[in-house]
Amino acid sequence: MNTPNFSYHWLPFTSNRAFSTNPRLVVGAQGVHYVDADGRRVLDGISGLFCVPAGHGRPEIAAALSEQVRRLDFAPTFEFAHPDGFTLAERLARLLPAGLDRVFFVNSGSEAVETALKGALAYHRARGDAGRARFVGRERAYHGVNFGGLSVGGLAKNREMFGPGLPGVSHMRATWSAEQAFHWGQPSTGGELAEDLQRAVNLYGGTSIAAVIVEPIAGSSGGVIVPPEGYLERLAEIATAHGILLIFDEVITGFGRTGHAFASQAFGVTPDIITMAKALTNGAVPMGAVAFRRGVHDAVIAAGAGDGAEFPHGYTWSAHPLACAAALAALEIYESEGLFDRVAKLGVGFQEAVSGLKGAGPIVDIRGFGLLAGVELEPDGPIGHRGPEVLKALFASGLVARMSGDTIILAPPFVASEGEISETVDIVRAVVGAL
Ligand SMILES: Cc1ncc(COP(=O)(O)O)c(C=O)c1O
Repeated sequence: MNTPNFSYHWLPFTSNRAFSTNPRLVVGAQGVHYVDADGRRVLDGISGLFCVPAGHGRPEIAAALSEQVRRLDFAPTFEFAHPDGFTLAERLARLLPAGLDRVFFVNSGSEAVETALKGALAYHRARGDAGRARFVGRERAYHGVNFGGLSVGGLAKNREMFGPGLPGVSHMRATWSAEQAFHWGQPSTGGELAEDLQRAVNLYGGTSIAAVIVEPIAGSSGGVIVPPEGYLERLAEIATAHGILLIFDEVITGFGRTGHAFASQAFGVTPDIITMAKALTNGAVPMGAVAFRRGVHDAVIAAGAGDGAEFPHGYTWSAHPLACAAALAALEIYESEGLFDRVAKLGVGFQEAVSGLKGAGPIVDIRGFGLLAGVELEPDGPIGHRGPEVLKALFASGLVARMSGDTIILAPPFVASEGEISETVDIVRAVVGAL
């Protein structure tokens, strides 16, 4: 392979200066493996950044894309539509928690979050309650990189360069505490932190808050924080009592990662709005979506003047025909291969294997749920200092993972075999053991 000139392409969330001296280039992918620039097979331990649970290079998706680009490569978006968008929305409604069956399409998780926040404002305004303009987010949350998502998010590194963000945003505390260390699944402590929402109500007035947004499991950037028992239930209770919309950001947890289609179903708590992206198309085409409770959608539509857009929001690429084709093919694979049920089964061995890393090196916590795990390393300086070196060592040893600060995140594809999951964990053991 000709080595590209690394100067032109400004890489996202990457140390661009360091990359050219130690580039990690992948040139192909099949199943649960990548092929790197040296022709090495490298295990995908993170489902292509949580996007490719059904494995890479699926011929069904390739065929659907090829057929679609010949039949309808683009459909005009505003005041026009194409049938596959409606088919896909209806298909998603069957997977979503009952009642959340009005779907708005976007192109990424970040856009899904912006759409959810704007949808919440539109809903309150439609009901004559425009005074509700505040949002409540959470510390350590990641809701993408656009200004709304940054503002409700809770990661200082992502925020500090970019000014104050949206006004009127407050944050609940993150739910992780040291007493939860080495606990897999929902911790039994920390549920009371849902009262932080009540504190926001007490401080700002419940009638001023439009929505509260949380990742049901704080996924990648938060380092995998599983909600304590009772926490999501109590959030929903407080939100309902004060007319505040509850938004679950399921960009990572959507499409089976917990063993259920959505984490909402895994934890038995139904929000008013769910954001999704990543695995929606099995990673083949960028696409996100937002599912609204029918009453939220209906209120906005009913309040429209009748001769213009009721919700002045949308993207040129919303419900792009290729994205719809990829999503329909991906959902078909998930269903026909029973992949969400497979997560529930594989999750048992995964938990055992990852939990077995305790003591293998400077590990201070192991936590997870379904096929999602965080292995937190002891910092060797400022938090996050050792992350990039560990990432490089894992790649050199044949594994693509993700680092969130000093936490190794693992999220194997749902089609991985038990052997491939063991292999993934063995690579982590060897790298961590050498620290
Ligand atoms: C919970 C959550 N929300 C939003 C996003 C942003 O998604 P995207 O990178 O597609 O904009 C992510 C990405 O990892 C995420 O994990």
